Amino acid sequence: MKLVSLFGKAISDSMQSNLFTLPNFEAVAKSSQAQEKKIIQYEQAEQLFLELLAIDNLDNQLHQEAAKAREFEQAISTAITAAYCHDVNDDRAHLFLQRILYWINRLKLFWYDDLRHYTNERSLYLSCCRNQIEAAWQAWEIAQIDVPALQKLDVKQALIERASSDLNPPSSPESCYIREQMSEVGYRHLLAIASFDGLVEGSRLSRILGGAANEVQCTLVRVLLEEYGNGRLSRKHSTFFAQMLEEFKMNTEPEGYFDLVPWEVLACANQNFLTTERKLYFLRYCGALTYFEVAGPAAYKNYLAAAQRLQLSNAAMGYWELHIKEDERHGQWMLDSVALPLAEKYPDDAWQLILGYDQEKLMGDRATKAVVQSILTQEQAN
Ligand SMILES: [Fe+2]
Ligand SMILES: [Fe+2]
Repeated sequence: MKLVSLFGKAISDSMQSNLFTLPNFEAVAKSSQAQEKKIIQYEQAEQLFLELLAIDNLDNQLHQEAAKAREFEQAISTAITAAYCHDVNDDRAHLFLQRILYWINRLKLFWYDDLRHYTNERSLYLSCCRNQIEAAWQAWEIAQIDVPALQKLDVKQALIERASSDLNPPSSPESCYIREQMSEVGYRHLLAIASFDGLVEGSRLSRILGGAANEVQCTLVRVLLEEYGNGRLSRKHSTFFAQMLEEFKMNTEPEGYFDLVPWEVLACANQNFLTTERKLYFLRYCGALTYFEVAGPAAYKNYLAAAQRLQLSNAAMGYWELHIKEDERHGQWMLDSVALPLAEKYPDDAWQLILGYDQEKLMGDRATKAVVQSILTQEQAN
């Protein structure tokens, strides 16, 4: 009762202030001086948020931290307007929002650190912030997809056709650059960014495995088991990733290069957190994972070609080699034993498999472009 009433007060305070209203920042965004101020504001706001996150039982203490919370909420409102309500692509706003979402979502995984870091895992205030960002972000993402057109498709046929063309996609400017031009500096930068996912691979998949037993569930478990090296750390995919980093004496701690991760990559992770959190999106997640496993080998072949051209050691490219073999199998399993059976079991909702598949592809391509851009910037700085 105490928590609810206190939180109720916090929520009503927030509603009166700015968590749920979008102030007009159009005028401010026009001047570059204001733009600079906004950058600082986002960084400061993230810092304030991290301070809130560290407070023991935040929901109960919120009334004492009202000023901090209000400033943070103000930044969220500003960023939501800048990222999703205007045509201009405000990367800073996107980055701020995706980082906040990630800070909240990551509490759903265990990091083998201080148990007190999880004190706010079930905080209503954090849920409220997450929902606020997600609602605006998801509306913006889905507007980029022609959902009515998807709903008219023959789902099984569409899945089969998409999977066969994504197995061998045409070259893109990004894939050509990676294969033919990326330097060793660029390769290390690629590893740094990719380690954000590579070192905790399969973690999100683990969240959808529990429940009724059937062939679909068992196939998903089989994929997870392979990602997890059948329970042997030496064979776990993340270990192969760590070995690549070790070859360059790079940081092998998960999230060690968090600050290098572009918002487009964070968005892929946060999308996964959302679709594995809500059972309502189970089909979307399975569609997304089908794309991820099907499309993996083609992407990894580019990274492998780059490593071979740069004459790197086997350990510096082992993860890609492993995935070229395993993900071809995983992609086939996902299509034949997960996506197609689910399409049959849920005829009215089966289009959501395609929605998940297409969104993963769209967001994945967007992330690849951002990573290559980041690599180019890094190479030019050297
Ligand atoms: Fe893997
Ligand atoms: Fe895989």
